[in-house]
Amino acid sequence: MKLIKNLLIASAISSLAVTSSLAGDMDLVKQGEKIFNTKNLGNCLACHDVNGKKIDGPGSMGPKLVALKYWPDEALYAKIYDPYTTNPISQMPAFGKNGWLSDSEIKAVVAYLKTVE
Ligand code: HEC
Repeated sequence: MKLIKNLLIASAISSLAVTSSLAGDMDLVKQGEKIFNTKNLGNCLACHDVNGKKIDGPGSMGPKLVALKYWPDEALYAKIYDPYTTNPISQMPAFGKNGWLSDSEIKAVVAYLKTVE
């Protein structure tokens, strides 16, 4: 009986943990979306159409962002941190290297980009 009770408690605790980590991911995605869309943060929308949203600004045209959920996290992180590592003539600014976005802000943007179909 005691064993069953312990098992029940253990499963209640582990399902709690799963729910809260999912909620944590959702918060990260929302934070990343905000950074993406906000002019004095990522300002990514100045150059990229994404998820049905149209470019909002005079920035040089970046490609429409699609199928990013298939990119490895590290590749997305690297693209935002410093696009010149993979494309020496990129017109996209280096948000990480320039100190515009912090490590945790870039990770939030990556979480958001992983939702882009
Ligand atoms: C000044 C315009 C500009 C801004 C602002 C900009 N980008 Fe870009 N981006 C580009 C250009 C141009 C390319 C294509 C060249 C390249 O891949 O480096 C690109 C490429 C990309 C790619 C690769 C897309 C693909 O299909 O190959 C991703 C991902 C990306 N940008 C994400 C972002 C994110 C996230 C932000 C905001 C933090 C951002 N960009 C801000 C211009 C911009």
